[in-house]
Amino acid sequence: MAYSRLSVARFYEKEPEAYWALSRDRDFDAQIAAAVSLLGNEPRAVADLFAGPAYHGAALRRRFAACDVVAIDASPAMRDVAARFEGFPAENYFVSPLGEGRTWPVRSPLCMALILRYSIGYLDDDQFITFLSTVHDALRPGGLVLIELHSIPLLFGGLQDLGIKSRTVEIDGRRITCEWPDGPLMWRSDSWTVEMPLTVSWAEKTGALRDEKYLSIERIYSEREIVVAASRCFGLEQVEIGETERAAFPDGELVCLRRPDA
Ligand SMILES: C[S@@+](CC[C@H](N)C(=O)[O-])C[C@H]1O[C@@H](n2cnc3c(N)ncnc32)[C@H](O)[C@@H]1O
Repeated sequence: MAYSRLSVARFYEKEPEAYWALSRDRDFDAQIAAAVSLLGNEPRAVADLFAGPAYHGAALRRRFAACDVVAIDASPAMRDVAARFEGFPAENYFVSPLGEGRTWPVRSPLCMALILRYSIGYLDDDQFITFLSTVHDALRPGGLVLIELHSIPLLFGGLQDLGIKSRTVEIDGRRITCEWPDGPLMWRSDSWTVEMPLTVSWAEKTGALRDEKYLSIERIYSEREIVVAASRCFGLEQVEIGETERAAFPDGELVCLRRPDA
């Protein structure tokens, strides 16, 4: 199966509009309210990392007009979608691969870095540590990192009970369907890495049908593993998350870290 499928990176690069339409399945305002409640004060500088359409960055800008929000993602097409559909300013959206140790185009110390919807798994072990180091350095003392991970019990059930496993949306008369996963998860034998097959289908107004099959290869990080690495390597502290904040992210597990006050 692995060889007949395109990398999911191609979906993010070539079909960002489909991603945008399919992944608006959350209450972004509630998710931002939860993140801000963990922060405990009004956000001034936030980075939406692995931003995709920058739903969260855009929700932050709507709620906190004075907040300097940057978005970063590897896909230039996502920047265009963020501007077109979310009104997120292209000049605040940086196209750059994260985890590669490149210069971080952040303008002021961050009070919060958001890494939402399972994106951290696109970094391998080395990239993850490089990334955490970059995030740590970008945070102001007291600043937070909020990461949304896959739920490990759901993964062990093959994601069959994932709330967003099957999604269908309609835009401009086209029907787009996504099955994620569309078959068994394939675990690698030498690391906590999983290959997830998925299909996106388009039914055009004309009746024409198109299917694309992709593979999302993700390193699965546990909450505990992130907390230990972040604390041992960079002195970040775990922040307790209440049920109300967790409830805003029904399909994932949240982990929150704080850079200690100086
Ligand atoms: C699952 S989407 C998440 C998007 C958004 N955060 C959300 O909540 O819907 C993952 C995003 O990460 C981006 N991405 C994957 N690997 C990346 C990397 N190494 N550096 C930067 N962006 C990356 C993809 O282009 C895609 O937009």
